[in-house]
Amino acid sequence: MMTVMLADGRPMPRLGLGTWPMNDEEARQAVTYAVSLGYRLIDTAASYGNEAGVGAAVAEASVAREELFVTTKLRGSHHGYDAAMRGFEESRARLGLDYVDLFLIHWPLPGRGLYVDTWRAFTHLREQGLVRSIGVSNFTPGQIERLVAEIGVWPAVNQVELHPGFPQRELRAWHAEHDIVTESWSPLGAGSKLLDDPVVADLAAAHGRTPAQVVLRWHLQLGAVPIPKSADPERIRQNFEVFDFSLSPDEMARLDDLDTGGRLGGDPDTHVEL
Ligand code: A2P
Repeated sequence: MMTVMLADGRPMPRLGLGTWPMNDEEARQAVTYAVSLGYRLIDTAASYGNEAGVGAAVAEASVAREELFVTTKLRGSHHGYDAAMRGFEESRARLGLDYVDLFLIHWPLPGRGLYVDTWRAFTHLREQGLVRSIGVSNFTPGQIERLVAEIGVWPAVNQVELHPGFPQRELRAWHAEHDIVTESWSPLGAGSKLLDDPVVADLAAAHGRTPAQVVLRWHLQLGAVPIPKSADPERIRQNFEVFDFSLSPDEMARLDDLDTGGRLGGDPDTHVEL
């Protein structure tokens, strides 16, 4: 599995399996199948309600625990130092793991004003070896700068909505300047018509690939880490078969032009998730 090096010196797989929305049993089956194909990065969250299913698949996997990169996220109800420590322990227990590879603050929830205290807890969890890498999700540069100003530790990853319809050019450039890996949620533009777009169809036909494979290739070539969700074995397989072709600069530019300027999901400044 190809990896990208995080600023903390740990390798992170270049593509993973997203698990929202899946229940425990769906997650167990999808993760088991994905790992058998070579996926190594699995993305879950406390709020998805499927950490036990993900953990069961990891426990049963044919590969060693150290081969896998398990990400989970702290839910909004657990912001604050003590609550974050508790929230992590609850996630770890549901997953049945000794450690988590990457722990993310799921949303900044600026209205609650607790993400800095939460981040302090994250740095302590990493010092204790309970999480290997720490990061954030849905944070703006201003929110990340505040974490760094107050705690002195940069997040290794910011997981954000990213797809050709919402390509986040400025944010990606800012991440690159600060050695933060961009991880893409809704990489296939779930809920939009992205996979039916004629430009995507055209490129898919030109490469003998599916629309989803073309879009995932766009993420890889941007340097982002996509985590496509699928519960369907055929789609789980095709979403992983994206390391053996490439898009030309001109083809990348055609996908960049699909920018609609709008998000499909929540805005970091206003979204409330508990
Ligand atoms: P399903 O689970 O039935 O495969 P995203 O990761 O952008 O959130 O997109 C997830 C959505 O896209 C899900 O509805 C998923 O449905 C669908 N999907 C995942 N992989 C593919 C694919 N290769 N082709 C078409 N649709 C896909």
